[in-house]
Amino acid sequence: MKTIDTTARVLDGVAIAGEIKAEVGVEVKDLQARGITPGLAVILVGDVPASQIYVRSKVKTCGELGIYSEMLTPPESITTEEMLKLVAELNAREDIDGILIQLPLPKHVDTKRLLESVAPQKDVDGFHPVNVGRLQSGQPALAPCTPAGIIEILKRSGLEIAGKNAVVVGRSDIVGKPAAMMLLNASATVTVCHSKTIDLAKFTRGADILVAAIGRAGFVTAEMVKPGAVLIDVGINRVTDAAEVERLFPGDAARAAGFAKRGSTVVGDIEPAAFAVSGAYTPVPGGVGALTIAMLMKNTVTAAKARRGIAVAQG
Ligand code: GUN
Repeated sequence: MKTIDTTARVLDGVAIAGEIKAEVGVEVKDLQARGITPGLAVILVGDVPASQIYVRSKVKTCGELGIYSEMLTPPESITTEEMLKLVAELNAREDIDGILIQLPLPKHVDTKRLLESVAPQKDVDGFHPVNVGRLQSGQPALAPCTPAGIIEILKRSGLEIAGKNAVVVGRSDIVGKPAAMMLLNASATVTVCHSKTIDLAKFTRGADILVAAIGRAGFVTAEMVKPGAVLIDVGINRVTDAAEVERLFPGDAARAAGFAKRGSTVVGDIEPAAFAVSGAYTPVPGGVGALTIAMLMKNTVTAAKARRGIAVAQG
């Protein structure tokens, strides 16, 4: 069997997420001792199976850490106006500190208008223009959870960011753009690449830190990576094509057996062969994905404190 022969360090997202959740749990206990229970409301519209899985895990983690949570599940047919009313009610509630609207929303709903309707101090996703602006101007802000998780992985693993060449592939509002901003705030030299970038490899080969957030299985290949680079793989792609599995995991018997059993396998945006040339990498699963919920919990507690004028430690 051909295995990846590598001395690269695996950045264990599950362990780091565990550390963060433990710290948040302590903060929640301190708040509860003062009669405060942080509260999170999650709005999940319609029947999107992937979103249902994510939201269930968010609610479950709240329960584990002592955070009150509430799940609102309006039907697919809900209008923008009805959604706005729902958010306004949550904005006004004293027991709710964080509001999360699970994306994507149905096409007929005005996502931008809705995200703008969330009170900025309850915007635990960090998607409101006020928080986007605060982040970009270096002021304390509720920052998007996945990019915030990337920074935590780098910092808690003792990996230097300042002065490094960081290349972000992908320019989404949820991951790529805020990740670039947070790396810049941490003094990296940042390049953002995207689907229209000409000669992508020219940029990625110069990256000391490479963040892949494109949403295409194994898109970043070993030839595109500088030896010793830190690879941060944000992709979670379900591959159902046997030939693609063989391309990505040649001779990997365990992967082939899992694929034969389930008919699919989960792959990041970086091909596994690239990990062999890297200095450190986040695996999929078990890397960045694990951090997203931990950072949501952290943001919820931060929002609960900030709204009550309790000092918030800056990360
Ligand atoms: N859908 C995929 N990622 C996210 C996220 O971080 N927040 C929300 N609200 N929806 C998502």
